[in-house]
Amino acid sequence: MNKTIIVSNRLPLQISIEGDKLNVTPSVGGLATGMKSVHAEGNGIWIGWSGITSEDLDSDLKSKVNAKIENAKCRAVELSSDDIDDYYLGFSNRTLWPLFHYFLEYTEFEKSHWEAYKRVNKKFAEVVLNTVEEGDTVWVQDYQLLLLPQLIKDVRPDITIGFFLHIPFPSYEIFRTFPWREELLTGMLGADLVGFHTYDYERHFLSSVKRIMRLEVNFNEITYYDRIIKVDSFPMGIDYNKFHDAALAHNNQNTEKSELQKRLDTHINEDNDKKFILSIDRLDYTKGIPNRIRAFENFLNTYPEYKEKVRLIMLTVPSRSNVPQYQKLKSETDELVGRINGEFSTVSWTPIWYFYRSLPFNNLIDLYTSSDVALITPVRDGMNLVAKEYVATRTNQDGVLILSEMAGAAKEMNEALLINPNSFEDFATALNKALKMPLEEQNSRMKILQKRLKRYDVEKWAKEFFKTLDETNQLQEVVI
Ligand code: UDP
Ligand code: G6P
Repeated sequence: MNKTIIVSNRLPLQISIEGDKLNVTPSVGGLATGMKSVHAEGNGIWIGWSGITSEDLDSDLKSKVNAKIENAKCRAVELSSDDIDDYYLGFSNRTLWPLFHYFLEYTEFEKSHWEAYKRVNKKFAEVVLNTVEEGDTVWVQDYQLLLLPQLIKDVRPDITIGFFLHIPFPSYEIFRTFPWREELLTGMLGADLVGFHTYDYERHFLSSVKRIMRLEVNFNEITYYDRIIKVDSFPMGIDYNKFHDAALAHNNQNTEKSELQKRLDTHINEDNDKKFILSIDRLDYTKGIPNRIRAFENFLNTYPEYKEKVRLIMLTVPSRSNVPQYQKLKSETDELVGRINGEFSTVSWTPIWYFYRSLPFNNLIDLYTSSDVALITPVRDGMNLVAKEYVATRTNQDGVLILSEMAGAAKEMNEALLINPNSFEDFATALNKALKMPLEEQNSRMKILQKRLKRYDVEKWAKEFFKTLDETNQLQEVVI
């Protein structure tokens, strides 16, 4: 039976060693949470890194780790600590991530990191080539593996390959600054279908292909030697029913209240006028966290009537903490939260509740369902699934989403209050509007958003991708 092979840098489960025990945790981030639903449905296998470097694995441990991984329909690519330093922390997260998110000032062009990136993409290719069988489809995910499609196609031209980028593809003017630009594009063109979250990213990619590779591009098809490669946009959805149903069960009290929910309830029951504003992100400079805190300070100064009435709950999930920019961001965030809480707190009120950890699913549902406003304000974001998850959990169709226009999700969520995350005025006006918004207006905005998210959920997203991949295959047959 033909299978689908998903390939991403990280597996959906991460393994760590604690004493003589193996600890398994789910991976965080949109790629993992979204693709997990696709993987669970289908007949397939997921290839990626387990979270443990090869130096930490003796043969006994290795077989235990592999057993856990195989049990979850996955297969591991072994990476050494040098690979992690140079390919993952180095090239992926100090070059591609900042460059593709328009943070040129953070972007390093380090030849040894580029060499490691090529080496590790080949490691992934080896595992894929050992796994793939005739008739299988390979679906490569994200910026850590841009060279992988071509590495597979070179050896197995018969295999259908899809590629999806979960982050923005930058404009040509940004992409052209990248020293190995042609090699990177060549790597991506090994795929039969290249997918992006939005039409803008697709357009940027096609423009780079045209201008750098000088290839013929016809609408959204690229002619490359004897192949036709299709490029299209597929805005990723969420597992809508999972979030909606969990929120229904939570609201109907079919589940036992968590400690977090009990704590939230004490504050909700204190005073009907009190409101929670929620933000959830990985601690990443693209998410605009310091700016959001400063904008919240400005909001409290502009509208002092909200003092003691509103609370910003900020869940920031630890991420890439070995990269210097992330360490700096952590100190800056700690410092800002401390300063603002110090400035405004009273005996009965702390304006910002700041959590630096990842929370299990049921606690995320507690936060989403208890918050009157979601404040999602990245300075640049490929999609942003948190915005969609908030909407899915609002089972009474109340609540307001304030969303940055720089998030890919904004393209499909016009009924949110869209703001420019660099404007303090936009923040203050939108927050005031959200907190005052009549219930009827909240309902009408939420209804439209929910209908759209329910229709275009993650299952539909994957189906559309595979349908287009199939059509691309038929095109090849015509060409040949
Ligand atoms: N998330 C999680 N644990 C947490 C907080 C968030 O698994 O403690 C999930 C969240 O539910 C969402 C994902 O992480 O599905 C974040 O995806 P998003 O697209 O918003 O941003 P990314 O992290 O991919 O940049
Ligand atoms: C984003 C990226 C993913 C990545 C995730 C978490 O969602 O698009 O590829 O897995 O962040 O980041 P990490 O570096 O911890 O895998």
